[in-house]
Amino acid sequence: MGVLRKLWIALAVTSVILSTVLAEFPTTSDAKCNCYLTNTTTKNWFSRHKFFDFRNMSQYVNVPGPAQNPSAASDAGVASSYFESADWTNFWSLQRWNNSLMMRGNSDVTGSDATVLMVNSPSNVYFENNKDTKAASKTYMTMRTVRHQDFQSAAEFESGSGNYHYLSIRMLARTRGASGAITAMFTYRGAQSLQSVQEADLEVRTRDPSSSIQYTNQPSWNANGDIAGATKNITQPGKVNWNDWQYHRMDWTPGSTNWFVNGQLVSTISFQAPRDPSQIIFNAWSDGGSWSGNMSVGSEAYLQIQWIDVVYNNTDPAIGFKPTATNGKCGSICSIDETKTVGTPVLITTTPQNPSGGQSGSNPGSPGSPSGGQACFAAKYGQCAGKNWNGCTGCAAGTTCRFQNDYYSQCL
Ligand SMILES: *[C@@H]1O[C@H](CO)[C@@H](O)[C@H](O)[C@H]1NC(C)=O
Ligand SMILES: *[C@@H]1O[C@H](CO)[C@@H](O)[C@H](O)[C@H]1NC(C)=O
Ligand SMILES: *[C@@H]1O[C@H](CO)[C@@H](O)[C@H](O)[C@H]1NC(C)=O
Ligand SMILES: *[C@@H]1O[C@H](CO)[C@@H](O)[C@H](O)[C@H]1NC(C)=O
Ligand SMILES: *[C@@H]1O[C@H](CO)[C@@H](O)[C@H](O)[C@H]1NC(C)=O
Ligand SMILES: *[C@@H]1O[C@H](CO)[C@@H](O)[C@H](O)[C@H]1NC(C)=O
Repeated sequence: MGVLRKLWIALAVTSVILSTVLAEFPTTSDAKCNCYLTNTTTKNWFSRHKFFDFRNMSQYVNVPGPAQNPSAASDAGVASSYFESADWTNFWSLQRWNNSLMMRGNSDVTGSDATVLMVNSPSNVYFENNKDTKAASKTYMTMRTVRHQDFQSAAEFESGSGNYHYLSIRMLARTRGASGAITAMFTYRGAQSLQSVQEADLEVRTRDPSSSIQYTNQPSWNANGDIAGATKNITQPGKVNWNDWQYHRMDWTPGSTNWFVNGQLVSTISFQAPRDPSQIIFNAWSDGGSWSGNMSVGSEAYLQIQWIDVVYNNTDPAIGFKPTATNGKCGSICSIDETKTVGTPVLITTTPQNPSGGQSGSNPGSPGSPSGGQACFAAKYGQCAGKNWNGCTGCAAGTTCRFQNDYYSQCL
């Protein structure tokens, strides 16, 4: 109790510092940051930061013509050499898979009711010039999906690592084009059965009104129909429309997923919040199924992205852990929220702090940490017991561990 109270006082002091000296922190570089503190109502700490800036990629601009048959789509080369550079390939992998094994009547795992052969093509991910009037950038990345007579070509890139364990990911993006497509940014952990998939999604359906965005902790359906509480169809506040540039943010943290648009919290789902290490995926697609709908032959739709900014933990020591943050303390605490220059972190304090804070329920970034019924405290809405559960069995102050089913008890 005493320890917790001290932590809360430390957090309260941090909040005061953050809110009163906003935007006056010195810029720094990632090499000098031990950890990153995010600025939501619950503080979260992350050990790594990566910024992908697509606003000045003039040297890589090339808009390939759409591939005209499934094999050509799958076999296509990259649109520019950037996609062969270490900056890209160390993090992302362009996809070539197709849905032939998941078409209607053939899909226990995905639950897909696809009616159109969909083929992911590297030629559908490219940089183009920003031709907006008063353009905010020289270039941006486009992810394209095209409806051909006999198939759909689509765009997807996935993180090479499947070991991201909690993150705060942001993009400046818009969706354009024909009805019948989906554009998405999500975390994904595959499984042998649909009900075991873990996934936190931001999805735009181009047949929906431009003010509607779908936020989901999958799976959102099972054999009995829709799963209540897994998904939210949010009408965006104010004049927010997905066909204009918007600053989207998804915070996947222990026990809940939170989505923001232009800094405003628009959706929180704690039900089925992903618990285990996952991939990060972006895509633009359509398969003639009931979720996407059909695009008309010859039409195209796009997810366009100016930049992607992400702070994260990753259970792979090579990617996730910073040796400088050992002994449980974080010496140089940085922020990607309080900066005036997106992508460039600022230094908030060099006073060492214990980064676990209110989130002691999970320490996935620490290599070699013991697993198995640990005597630590999970945050509100976090898991605290269940078959195969190896995490914390305590609950944060003010919450108790409540049985939900054999596999899942939650701090409430
Ligand atoms: C854009 O990139 C070019 C190199 O391709 C560089 O010379 C220039 O300074 C960059 N401009 C901005 C605004 O970053
Ligand atoms: C589609 O994927 C299957 C394997 O799932 C593969 O055998 C087939 O060659 C692929 N087709 C195309 C056009 O890439
Ligand atoms: C989301 O809500 C909008 C507005 O009510 C509606 O038109 C749209 O069909 C809904 N989308 C989904 C996927 O439920
Ligand atoms: C976090 O900081 C960003 C950038 O300063 C701001 O746009 C956003 O409103 C802040 N979000 C919260 C939840 O405080
Ligand atoms: C898409 O079109 C196919 C026929 O090409 C049809 O079987 C399917 O039901 C359509 N899907 C939707 C969601 O309307
Ligand atoms: C990320 O990892 C650090 C270092 O292990 C840990 O203190 C922090 O609580 C983790 N963040 C989240 C959101 O779990």
